[in-house]
Amino acid sequence: MNNRIDLNFGWSYKSEYKDAFLEPEYDFGSWDLVDIPHTNVQVPYNNFDEKIYQIESCYKKSIFISHEEEKERYLLHFEGVMVQAKVYVNSRKVGSHKGGYTPFVFDITDYIKYGQDNLLTVCVDSREDEDIPPFGHVVDYLTYGGIYREVWLEKVSPVYIKDCHVITGQVLEEEKTIDLDLFLKNVIGLNQGELKLRLEKDKAIIKAWTSDLNLNGQEDQEIKISFDIKEDIELWDLDHPVLYDFVVEVITENGRASKIIRSGFRQVAFENDGFYLNGKKIKLRGLNRHQSFPYVGYAMPKSAQYRDAEILKEELGVNVVRSSHYPPSNHFLDRCDELGLLVFDEIPGWQHIGPEGPWWEVTLQQVDEMIRKDWNHPSVFMWGLRINESQDQDQLYGKTNTLANKLDPTRPRGGVRCIADSHLLEDVYTYNDFIHDGGKVILDKPKKITGKRVPYLVTEHNGHMFPTKKFDSEGRRIEQALRHMKVINRMMEDPHISGAIGWCMADYNTHQDFGSGDRICYHGVLDMFRIPKYGAYPYQSEGLKIPVMEVANSMESGDMDRSMRGQVWVFTNCQQVKLYINDSYINSFYPSHDAYPGLEHPPVIIDDFVGNLIHEKETFKPKDADQIKRLLIKADTSGGKLGPWDLVKMGWLFVKYGMTMKDGMDLYTKYFGGWGQASTTYRFEGLVDGKTVVTKEKGRVFHPSLQMTCDSELLVEGPTYDTTRMVLKLVDESGDTCLYANDAIQIETSGPISLMGPKVVSLIGGSVGFWVRSLGQSGRGSVRIVSERYGTLHQDLKVEKEIEN
Ligand code: GAL
Repeated sequence: MNNRIDLNFGWSYKSEYKDAFLEPEYDFGSWDLVDIPHTNVQVPYNNFDEKIYQIESCYKKSIFISHEEEKERYLLHFEGVMVQAKVYVNSRKVGSHKGGYTPFVFDITDYIKYGQDNLLTVCVDSREDEDIPPFGHVVDYLTYGGIYREVWLEKVSPVYIKDCHVITGQVLEEEKTIDLDLFLKNVIGLNQGELKLRLEKDKAIIKAWTSDLNLNGQEDQEIKISFDIKEDIELWDLDHPVLYDFVVEVITENGRASKIIRSGFRQVAFENDGFYLNGKKIKLRGLNRHQSFPYVGYAMPKSAQYRDAEILKEELGVNVVRSSHYPPSNHFLDRCDELGLLVFDEIPGWQHIGPEGPWWEVTLQQVDEMIRKDWNHPSVFMWGLRINESQDQDQLYGKTNTLANKLDPTRPRGGVRCIADSHLLEDVYTYNDFIHDGGKVILDKPKKITGKRVPYLVTEHNGHMFPTKKFDSEGRRIEQALRHMKVINRMMEDPHISGAIGWCMADYNTHQDFGSGDRICYHGVLDMFRIPKYGAYPYQSEGLKIPVMEVANSMESGDMDRSMRGQVWVFTNCQQVKLYINDSYINSFYPSHDAYPGLEHPPVIIDDFVGNLIHEKETFKPKDADQIKRLLIKADTSGGKLGPWDLVKMGWLFVKYGMTMKDGMDLYTKYFGGWGQASTTYRFEGLVDGKTVVTKEKGRVFHPSLQMTCDSELLVEGPTYDTTRMVLKLVDESGDTCLYANDAIQIETSGPISLMGPKVVSLIGGSVGFWVRSLGQSGRGSVRIVSERYGTLHQDLKVEKEIEN
């Protein structure tokens, strides 16, 4: 038997609870068989009553433990059960846990019967309990129920390492240190031991240390111990997130306990003038993330958690994510460590502080559980120690801060508020700034909010100030992008703002009090399936290193107010954008550094769709052609509002060339409206150092077709099942999504895979996503998509097993 036994496959599940379920002889043979991560009730995409998952339920699983294994101790780990759990082994209660976002572990050794099956029973209460944060008032997200993160059994020696915090200090000095804060269990009767530490990178040993340990002979012992290291060490940073393994072993006469901890060498600090990583100032540009997915809520395994981190770093180009409003899955953090994506990790809660008593106790317990769970992740750079957007409560937050500082004095402390002049018990004033409403004011001045100069980070902006659906009209979607862009620009300009974390990465299901009435908050720069809206573009152009050129316009003036296309925003990291219409060169355009001085890659604004065409194709004198072009552009970008002087000019030109008002309109239509033309194709070329690095065409929709992409064609079954996301889009010839397509699509799977959601979906704003999962067997599977109008598509998938069970 391995030291770690994953217990995710084959639980018996009942979506109700009765005391009789605990009786030893209870027959649960007819219960559903489920795998973990598991959501207690699958929810519809939208328009549902959030009470449907607020139920009690029960999970059961038998595990055989042989007589030979009698000398060991057994720790049963739960990574996350929403909202509270009672755990029984062989019908005897071993413990209970409150709070759905943090892990817990029980030593079940004394409950085990050797040489036979042992029955685990977990009673899960997913009702909103006002003694447990975030509950007690309203909450703008859902807390889907079930055993939604992995379960495993750990076999340990009698003395074991309960926790170990690896602290890498003085990373900028030549001589660095590794400090271990070690928490041992069952040291009873022992006064001597040995500690071995090995630093490894890619399995190669960098250095090894041995040290004697004085043990206290008690049940629990905390040991702090420090080691020097002169060897060359590579730091963890955003571009080169180098990770090491720290192999810790404790040897006593009662056996050998070990832990392998993956971490890195890096130093974080906030000063009044910003955030520093390894001594280098970095502007934090990021998004908030909820861990929810359509249908299955929180119950998503490693690959989906990994994918979210990848989307943030590699597809949105952000350097920071806030795990609003609770500690995220370990998988998500593992991937953030690997990618170099900073995480602001915070305790569960939303605006409401419950009364002193159980609610406070759970809050403090969750501070402890969050920090112990996440303290070895180099990506985690700050703890959030307030209930998101709550009022000052010095007594409670004094306690959360003291506890955090005791457990981990190495990380800055924050606590998200939305009030000015709040008591700063933390290191950083972390503030949700929703002042921007589309007008001139973009962000508040930090000093106005804090009173005096302190480290300052904007932890939310936009969001509810401008909910935007993927299928909203063009103007609204552009405006969402512009609002995010303006906040990023303002943050970059202000030396006292360390960064800005926008609300939010993806749309999410929510309670009745929030969102658009259909139980969705459309605040994301991605939709619930992680498909980008225009709002994603400013993040991409500012953050991605690959060539980016996103044209935030369908070029369909009929979708714009007053049918005026106006300016076209191109979000790009190119130095120049060339525009061609129907293969005729129109003009070159450049990033608007003057208007957005804070941005490294300001947008390119295209406001000339005529170029020299009027000069070349009409019979006006050159100077008059200049004037006519200028007037037409002005009419187009101002919504037809010409000033008195312009009107005089226009009148004069009309008289000179004997033109009527209709001739003027025809001219406008010819060069701006494109009406009556068989086809207008716009080609944008993005250039860097004079070379075209990216091209985008936009034209009229003639023959749209359905396109299916898949995040990974290989699913790997490891400790639990694997998933992959598929995205379906109706695209035109240019590859642009036909945003107002809502066709119904039927999804069929065959082979060792199944669909995680409904079998019939409709395109939502031209696209939709879905996830399929593996079913415990290796082999080949296939996904088939049937659309009455657009035909059939196939995607083959392969399922492999990482380990044979
Ligand atoms: C904030 C809150 C977030 C979310 C957001 C919407 O006040 O902290 O959880 O509700 O508003 O913009």
